[in-house]
Amino acid sequence: MNAKEKNIREEILNLQKKIAEWDNAYYNLDNPIVTDEIYDTEFIRLQKLEKQYSYLLTYEEVKNSPTQKIDAKSLSIFDKVIHKKPMLSLNKAYSIEEIKKFIKNIEKYTNDFSFLIEPKIDGLSISLTYENGKLIRGVTRGDGITGEDVTKNILQINDIPKEIEYKHKIELRGEIYLSISRFNELNEENLKNNLPPLANPRNAAAGTLRQLDSNIVSQRGLSSFIYFVVDAPSHNIFTMEDAFCFLKKNNFHVVKDYKLAKNINQIEEYINNFPELKKTFDFEADGVVIKLNEIKWWNKIGQTQKFPHYAIAFKFEPNIEITTIKKIFITIGRTGLVTYNGQVKTVEISGSKINFATLNNFNYIKELNLNVGDEVYIKKAGEIIPCIIGLVNPKGKPDYFKRIETCPYCNSKLIESETFLEEYCENYNCPEIIKKQLIHFSSKECMNFFSMGEKIVEKLYENKLILNPLDFYNLKNNKNELTQLEKLGTKSIMKILNSIEDSKKLGLDKFIFALSIKHIGQKVASFIASKVQKLSEFLKFDFDSLIQYNEIGPKIIDSVKKWLSVDNNKKLINDFLNSGMNFEHISNIKSKLLDGINIVITGTLSKPRNYFEELIKANNGNIVNSVSKKTSYVLCGENPGSKLDKANELNVKVISENDLIDMLKNKN
Ligand code: IVH
Repeated sequence: MNAKEKNIREEILNLQKKIAEWDNAYYNLDNPIVTDEIYDTEFIRLQKLEKQYSYLLTYEEVKNSPTQKIDAKSLSIFDKVIHKKPMLSLNKAYSIEEIKKFIKNIEKYTNDFSFLIEPKIDGLSISLTYENGKLIRGVTRGDGITGEDVTKNILQINDIPKEIEYKHKIELRGEIYLSISRFNELNEENLKNNLPPLANPRNAAAGTLRQLDSNIVSQRGLSSFIYFVVDAPSHNIFTMEDAFCFLKKNNFHVVKDYKLAKNINQIEEYINNFPELKKTFDFEADGVVIKLNEIKWWNKIGQTQKFPHYAIAFKFEPNIEITTIKKIFITIGRTGLVTYNGQVKTVEISGSKINFATLNNFNYIKELNLNVGDEVYIKKAGEIIPCIIGLVNPKGKPDYFKRIETCPYCNSKLIESETFLEEYCENYNCPEIIKKQLIHFSSKECMNFFSMGEKIVEKLYENKLILNPLDFYNLKNNKNELTQLEKLGTKSIMKILNSIEDSKKLGLDKFIFALSIKHIGQKVASFIASKVQKLSEFLKFDFDSLIQYNEIGPKIIDSVKKWLSVDNNKKLINDFLNSGMNFEHISNIKSKLLDGINIVITGTLSKPRNYFEELIKANNGNIVNSVSKKTSYVLCGENPGSKLDKANELNVKVISENDLIDMLKNKN
């Protein structure tokens, strides 16, 4: 073995050890220590290395690798049950090429086939046995061979039928999960009760299912999707599609968005649309499962010890690479917010060259123990700025970058927020903050000044033509100076000046958002505008009265009040008013059917919660946080939380989503 081979061998053994630790944390302790993406990246790296360099390893080292195991064993507190048929895992494909290979293998046996494609639910697999139509047993997957008897807990899951029409003994398999809306609701409750938040829905579900106290299971509100009938042909089920029909007929929850595909093009289409489709789910999906629809071929096609050859899981390639941090520095945003950034050794992620990545805030650096010179994982997803997400080799002791104490632009001391999560430059005269605010004011999302990009605003600011937002509106008196600014012809100057005049007709929401008040994003700005109505009311408005609405929390109210207490800001608003600009709220309300009606939402609805929130707001209703005497209705879905109890206690009317829709129809 030469030196290079020795290094590779060491790398493989280190990876094996690291992944085994991650497996233990994930499967046994229900407490993952890395994200799924890092896990997948390193798992693939290990798989590749083991394949290419298997000659560097002993037989034992290959056999005991985490890549060879189905799943980790469970730490047992429940009775062990041996599965009648092993609960297998699924082989993974990361590209269409790999799916083509999977299909080619099937074509060795038959040419007459189709595929059932469905979301891969990120939950826990479960086996359910029914006898004489009664649910007699629920068992976790465990290591695939032996699972744990969690029947008592399964009986607490509302959407699993306890009795079914079908009377023969039958074993079904599926996934238990915690819906995203329920997960958020539980975390809201934890926050209120000073309890630590749940890490993610999957582990919350896993932890719940292995609770000894089944009352806790009942309160948590788990959900299920059933997708598999064991020994289907013995129940006269011959395709996966029939299995779904059978399951639906017996009142099981079956995933809605499955599709039958005849060929690779249809599979590819489903996969391409999946990221959009996924946004509509109230459950976490970590890929797509493709199953051979015709069960009669399954036996012939066979399986390995770990996974069958008649099904495969497509997972989206994790966009993660490894690089080194060269430098750490901060930037200051328009609200004074401090952002830590890393300059990294150039690395290519899914086609784009990356030199910089965000490190968020100082706490993030501290938590991940990051410093200059460290080798790190870096991730880029879609439009999002690349982000450093962790150390490749965790260090045994704290060794993180020293906090930057002062603003690099104005030298004032940086101040931590009350929650210690953020830091701000609080100097209202910081030149960087003013510049960023002016850029924001002129941007598309705000006053939308024609082609007034960052560069031009910077120049105008440096040349002292614009020092505050109102100055934009006086630019028309400085045409000469404008012409002297680099590359600005008369035509573009006219366009800019016209667009500035046009902006006087914009809604109050745009103007409030344009002011760069801390914690006031587009949505909140538009909500505040709907309540304030006119800029002339802004200075006298009672912002404390907004606390009753779901959209507004104390942090927002304090921030607006603080902003309005600064003389310069008051003066700015008055100057706008004195210049004849009294921005008004432009309403996008479709109807006033829910005028003055306060609605609390709880439980899982048939569409994402956002949909119902928008619907209520479009009809002039209010979404409120918690149930009180002032609540008009509680809109209640499946597995409602404590809000339902509160509604009953206070005699607040509880309605279903159909009631709501009828209400909007009836009055029309
Ligand atoms: S089918 C033999 N369908 O993924 C095939 N599994 O990585 C049996 N999973 O153990 C599984 N969603 O826990 C199937 N729609 C789906 C799934 C799914 C999630 C889980 C299941 C399985 C694991 C394999």
